Amino acid sequence: MEKQGVRGPKPRPLTGNILDVAAYVSKSTSKDMDHITHDTVNRLLPHYVAWSKQYGKRFIFWNGVEPRLCISETEMIKELLTKYSTKSGKSWLQREGTKHFIGRGLLMANGSDWYHQRHIAAPSFMGERLKSKAGLMVECTKNMLQSLQNAVESGQTEVEIGEYMSRVTADIISRTQFGSSYEKGKQIFHLLTELQSLCHQATRHLCLPGSRFFPSNYNRQIKSKKMEVDRLLLEIIQSRKDCVEIGRSSSYGDDLLGMLLNEMEKKRSDGWYGQQRSYSGHLNMIVSESLRLYPSGTLLPRMAFEDIKLGDLDIPKGLQIWIPVLAIHHSEELWGKDANEFNPDRFASKSFAPGRHFIPFAAGPRNCIGQSFAMMEAKIILAMLISQFSFNISDCYRHAPVVVLTIKPKYGVQVYLKPLNS
Ligand code: HEM
Repeated sequence: MEKQGVRGPKPRPLTGNILDVAAYVSKSTSKDMDHITHDTVNRLLPHYVAWSKQYGKRFIFWNGVEPRLCISETEMIKELLTKYSTKSGKSWLQREGTKHFIGRGLLMANGSDWYHQRHIAAPSFMGERLKSKAGLMVECTKNMLQSLQNAVESGQTEVEIGEYMSRVTADIISRTQFGSSYEKGKQIFHLLTELQSLCHQATRHLCLPGSRFFPSNYNRQIKSKKMEVDRLLLEIIQSRKDCVEIGRSSSYGDDLLGMLLNEMEKKRSDGWYGQQRSYSGHLNMIVSESLRLYPSGTLLPRMAFEDIKLGDLDIPKGLQIWIPVLAIHHSEELWGKDANEFNPDRFASKSFAPGRHFIPFAAGPRNCIGQSFAMMEAKIILAMLISQFSFNISDCYRHAPVVVLTIKPKYGVQVYLKPLNS
């Protein structure tokens, strides 16, 4: 890559630039931000800021023993995500680092394994199946609004709204994709949140082949939480199977779990609402602008599985390619001088180039399968919330976004709540 003019910081043996990244991030996130600003790239991707200033829009750094090429030219990104979607995928290190939290499912699958899983899961997130979930989303949101109303009636004027959001989204996913197993769903989400933190710690450390077998406290904690998640998931699956076996139900259901069980069954026999509609346009703009400023994933990683030609660059097989989503979403060159301001109106026109400048859900064949589900859910929750309450940010709120695999508010989001009918 050096011969093609791509350079980067000098790596150390074995650890590459991991310690440099850790030092940059721990310095930039050691304090809260001075005031509420959306200008978060220096805080969350300080290494990207430093190295892109020094080496330009393309540079290479080393994540342990894996070289990573960072690209921020949007034409190249589009080409990678669309044209080379089958010739690139998730690397060994990425799959290892997240396997306890994300597992070996669709998000981390490669090649024909990915194709097969995507094919089975996709219908659950499309067309009539997706629309049919709106009712359940409304029902779950009503429950959340009732809890907020109860909090207000018991004299609370301030709430940590993030907690309510986590609960309602966990409720929605449990009910829409896993049927009636909400109580189990809740326990699983709690365990997954703990696993998310533990796995995030792993991304900051060196991951050597075989290290998962060390009997460390970290490995023991992960193992026991993972076993508990597996046990709870197996119980849900078994109870679904039991319903069919004893004749209480004629099918496994048409939610995601039902579809996966039906597919497995097939393999064996083969030998192997309307409420948000009128505001929808505005809500779309508001949710999109929020996802532009705070995309869940600050970066999108891919690995080239074959030699490929990306723009004017020859990319050798095995090179990781790193797309700094957060930096692209905040780029003044792409979004104008007000790139760090919250301005939903910018989404009123179609000129913002989805799939290139705006990639919160990635792009191309390997984009987020839950994109329409997530947008529908966010719009329903927001529409119902603002129709019942007004809220302002609390004086206690500390603006300290951090990355724990995804972007999160470090201390939650405290807001003052006021029912609109009071
Ligand atoms: C605001 C909410 C969401 C955001 C910002 C988001 C973002 C993303 C992104 C950026 C990817 C690509 C990751 C990569 O390739 O490295 C992705 C993939 C994926 N997302 Fe989402 N997602 C959201 C909600 C959801 C929901 C609600 C579901 C499921 C119910 C979901 C399921 C998936 C799956 C299964 C993949 C893997 C797709 C594949 O590789 O074919 N996501 N998401």
